[in-house]
Amino acid sequence: MAKQTIKYVCSQCGAVSLKYQGKCFECQSWGTLEETRILPEPKNRKEGAVAFPGTAPVRLHEALPSEGHRHMTGIGELDRVLGGGLMKASAILVGGEPGIGKSTLMLHLAACLSPAKILYISGEESPNQIRERAQRMQVKADNLWLAPETDLEAILAVIEKEQPALVIVDSIQTVHSTQYQSSPGTLTQIRECASLLIRAAKQQNFILFLIGHITKEGTLAGPKTLEHMVDTVLQFEGEGYQRYRIIRSVKNRYGSTNEIGVFRMEENGLEEVSNPSEFFISGRQTDVAGNSILAAIEGSRAILVEVQALVSNTNYSMPQRISTGFDLKRMSIILAVLEKRLQMETWGQDVFVKIAGGLKLIEPAADLAIAAAVSSGLMNRPLEATAACSAEIGLSGELRAISDSERRIREAAHLGFKSIVLPEANTRSLKPSLKKLPIRIAGCRTLQEALTELG
Ligand code: TYD
Ligand code: MG
Repeated sequence: MAKQTIKYVCSQCGAVSLKYQGKCFECQSWGTLEETRILPEPKNRKEGAVAFPGTAPVRLHEALPSEGHRHMTGIGELDRVLGGGLMKASAILVGGEPGIGKSTLMLHLAACLSPAKILYISGEESPNQIRERAQRMQVKADNLWLAPETDLEAILAVIEKEQPALVIVDSIQTVHSTQYQSSPGTLTQIRECASLLIRAAKQQNFILFLIGHITKEGTLAGPKTLEHMVDTVLQFEGEGYQRYRIIRSVKNRYGSTNEIGVFRMEENGLEEVSNPSEFFISGRQTDVAGNSILAAIEGSRAILVEVQALVSNTNYSMPQRISTGFDLKRMSIILAVLEKRLQMETWGQDVFVKIAGGLKLIEPAADLAIAAAVSSGLMNRPLEATAACSAEIGLSGELRAISDSERRIREAAHLGFKSIVLPEANTRSLKPSLKKLPIRIAGCRTLQEALTELG
């Protein structure tokens, strides 16, 4: 029998050590090294041979265009996030909290890809449970094969025998191999099993979906190592108690990242939300102080989003600053600019900021909408309901240029907004076609000017 070696693998960062240490030398976490028995690699298993085995180098212009290798799923929101459909022999990791809808999305996918042969490896639910769900969702997938299996070797054997076009492993955390003595769900198991499944996908030319759970900290369990191995990482987000779901691509070898797809969880499964702006600003109250509308860019799309701020007298010596969906440090800077440049007293106030619809805003162009919402909440005066805005705020209270102003203007006009406030730098040389749109485009140089424009 081949000789086993014992190594110690950090369950946080995946660093490998030859001897036990209380503290990981790589990520400095305590008590995270796990003893792992590893069989030597088979002789024919070469590191780095995963991507495209057996291919000779080709000249750049001779490389095949990827379009021929694409497979549209028919779920528009998913296709866009994937960068234009599924790529042949690619491995996709779908992460999200339990109950968010990962398995549901996979069933929709299976139904849409019918009649292609799909193998659903389920370590979490029995075939009966999956069938009941499919019935509830009224999906028909005649060529979907279910295998309630968690043993890696058995899974690889089924794949070899059935020759499916697409394999779904739900979830990768349940898969384990007898080659490694650590228990299912540990980093070694997840990494090694995923690696062998991905290798099989490349060699046998099937598309592989790996479903992964998210840890309490919001990262994929067994995180970075898995993200490096797959071609695409999709993150499923959304508050469990609300109906909308957002799929975000955080890594994509075959498309752009930060693209989002929006869905709504209904009685019979996930429904695409093809006009997310209407969704993110639906249900807003126009006559309430503290609300503003941001014309945001998410991936290749402009989306209008409602920003809400609640400003109230504090009962604490340190006022509270809480933000959902927006960086807290950036919010503190905006409050400091309001205080220093516009003499707005925010110090004695608790400030709560929330991005409606559970969206997470990372682009600097969101600054003005946050400042406008807080200022409106502080003054207790609603903003102009038909005005949208986008601008980055500098520390001197100046508005700085932003990207993609054209798409933002078009989306606001499309949804019937009467005006949009942008940095002056963006409005100096507007295309004639934009000037013809039924929307007033206000270019402002300072935050003060912008707030006056917004009402
Ligand atoms: P599921 O896909 O099982 O989540 P995950 O695989 O990410 O753990 O989704 C489960 C939740 O979705 C569950 O709370 C019920 C809800 N749901 C609906 O509201 N409608 C439906 O049609 C389905 C199938 C699920
Ligand atoms: Mg599930």
